[in-house]
Amino acid sequence: MFGRWVVLTILLSLALFLFFFFNLYMNPPFMVLSRTNAITIKNPSHLQTQFSLLIGILTRPDAYDRRHFLRLIYGIQSSPVANIAIKFVLCTLTKEDQRMYIALEILRFDDIIILNCTENMNSGKTYTYFSSLPHILSHTYDYVMKADDDVFLRLAPLTSSLEPLPRIDLYYGFVIPCNSHNPFAGYMSGMGFVLSWDLVEWIAESTIPANNTLGPEDKLVGKWMNMGNKAKNRVSNKPAMYDYPGTNGRCSHELIADTVAVHRLKKRDQWLDVLKFFNVTEELQPSKLYNI
Ligand SMILES: *[C@@H]1O[C@H](CO)[C@@H](O)[C@H](O)[C@H]1NC(C)=O
Ligand SMILES: *[C@@H]1O[C@H](CO)[C@@H](O)[C@H](O)[C@H]1NC(C)=O
Ligand SMILES: *[C@@H]1O[C@H](CO)[C@@H](O)[C@H](O)[C@H]1NC(C)=O
Repeated sequence: MFGRWVVLTILLSLALFLFFFFNLYMNPPFMVLSRTNAITIKNPSHLQTQFSLLIGILTRPDAYDRRHFLRLIYGIQSSPVANIAIKFVLCTLTKEDQRMYIALEILRFDDIIILNCTENMNSGKTYTYFSSLPHILSHTYDYVMKADDDVFLRLAPLTSSLEPLPRIDLYYGFVIPCNSHNPFAGYMSGMGFVLSWDLVEWIAESTIPANNTLGPEDKLVGKWMNMGNKAKNRVSNKPAMYDYPGTNGRCSHELIADTVAVHRLKKRDQWLDVLKFFNVTEELQPSKLYNI
């Protein structure tokens, strides 16, 4: 009788051990740092991921410090519902030093996409970004986001807000004009908007975007969708997305707990304020190695 209980207990312990070991092993609780994909944010639990999301942060080749900073900001985040890949999106390199330093970044992080375009405001980089993806990616994503490099995205609330939404014909973001709540009148701010993969393919194939690439890039995307009678599913996520307090009239409001995106973070003290507000370092453990 007693022996049978011992055997049962041992078997149960073994099963539990194997269960947790494999869960941890297969789904490490945080970002997977590997040479092939530096910022691949896996879901932290054994929950099934619901969808995949590519976030392309459009930035300039010389913005080394900004990329370093954003790798920290996104590398410490995770999402329970999505697999997220974060890439920095550049236009053609123009300087000898860029070819060295960005090659080093690619070797170390592999999180850079260099498009065939020229770094200029409103010169069609957003068009080149979306229209190139089906040709250059090795696999598709459910959603593709275009984000600025002066926006703070909170990946868990972002992906939770996307989870219940349609996976096709979706155009999601922060609708402009600032005071509007109608995602069908206007367009999504360039701070960060999401398109479903079918719309990315449509941008790559249709002549409508190809023939309308000059002008404010975020406004153009809205124009393409309207001209093509696309994006029947549109979501403007206000007040969760906004500009930093005091930086842009009615597009700005105070920081709030349920935030998906804060935009127009140009200065270090603005970033500091935001990072403090959202307690981004609260998981830091005490250690003899540092005293913070
Ligand atoms: C890059 O774009 C230019 C202008 O659109 C084109 O002439 C050139 O062939 C492209 N280069 C590559 C490598 O695709
Ligand atoms: C683009 O627009 C021009 C001028 O309106 C027109 O002649 C041309 O056929 C259009 N091209 C495509 C590919 O739609
Ligand atoms: C940050 O932490 C403080 C103190 O624990 C808490 O009161 C506050 O609600 C937290 N802020 C957010 C946005 O979660």
